[in-house]
Amino acid sequence: MARLVLAPGVPPCAIEALTPPPVRPGVPPIVEFSHVTKTYEAGTRKAFTAIHDVSFVVEDLADVGEFISIVGPSGCGKSTVLRLIAGLAPQFPQTAGGVLVNRDPVAGPGPDRGMVFQDYTSFDNRSVLDNVAFGLECRGVGRRERHEAAMEWIAKVGLNPSKDACKFPHQLSGGMRQRVAIARTLILKPRIILMDEPFGALDPVTRQNMQDLLVDLWREVEATVFFVTHDVAEAVYVGDRIYVFSKSPGTIVQQYRCMPPDRPSRVMQREPGFQESVLFIRDLLDKLEKGEKVWTPPPPG
Ligand SMILES: Nc1ncnc2c1ncn2[C@@H]1O[C@H](COP(=O)(O)OP(=O)(O)O)[C@@H](O)[C@H]1O
Ligand SMILES: [Mg+2]
Repeated sequence: MARLVLAPGVPPCAIEALTPPPVRPGVPPIVEFSHVTKTYEAGTRKAFTAIHDVSFVVEDLADVGEFISIVGPSGCGKSTVLRLIAGLAPQFPQTAGGVLVNRDPVAGPGPDRGMVFQDYTSFDNRSVLDNVAFGLECRGVGRRERHEAAMEWIAKVGLNPSKDACKFPHQLSGGMRQRVAIARTLILKPRIILMDEPFGALDPVTRQNMQDLLVDLWREVEATVFFVTHDVAEAVYVGDRIYVFSKSPGTIVQQYRCMPPDRPSRVMQREPGFQESVLFIRDLLDKLEKGEKVWTPPPPG
């Protein structure tokens, strides 16, 4: 089955002309990078440029957000890109270029953006219920209301409200902890969800279950997602679009449009067209790791 478009050299079986997402007139892009460069410790002898001249536009689609997967060699600046969108130091602010959310330059963290990390970032001394309700508590939502909302989200992420709500993080498996992290972020209804290798520490079966859960929740919350992963199959499965970054200083060398994940991960990942797409991107990443030349799209205009 066909899956990818955009770059020449893609094997014919992997090419499919999918209609680009409709741009809504008058609605600004939800996220825009314009020639963004980040140099750590700029102006010192330790200056290190992590990303260079990164430009992309993600439109604010009606009733559904785009799901953007980001892959690239280790250290190419994927986390830097996510944390610039989140407005988190020391990645934020960028050294040059513009990082815009709804056409406004990012000025720091905000409730419109939520982040899920790979490490289990729950508070050890809070129950699952209080971890999930934490953001609402910070917003001053009353105890009863925030606990009701938290119980709902505990169920939505596939935990058992009556059994799991009163547990503490050390009593949970890795998969359960990431369910808590996802609930804690989504309860705040961010328009943009930033996920940095969220399933990187999970075993393969749990990982596939989490991919399916994420896709279901994403459809429900209609947010735009930026999803960093090392796992190319995961990127192709969950993503509407994949950005492939070069070695550091990272920049986008390719982007692909993918078929929507309309079947469970374990089904789709067995299909020949899917596997061919994954192998194609893995080969591209191998070339990038080795510093070999790859085709890059011509600059716009
Ligand atoms: N605070 C920092 N100071 C100096 N260098 C950093 C800092 N954060 C990241 N880097 C460097 O920038 C590069 C990109 O980092 P990162 O965005 O974490 O990459 P990735 O997530 O793709 O692995 C890496 O070489 C990393 O060592
Ligand atoms: Mg990283």
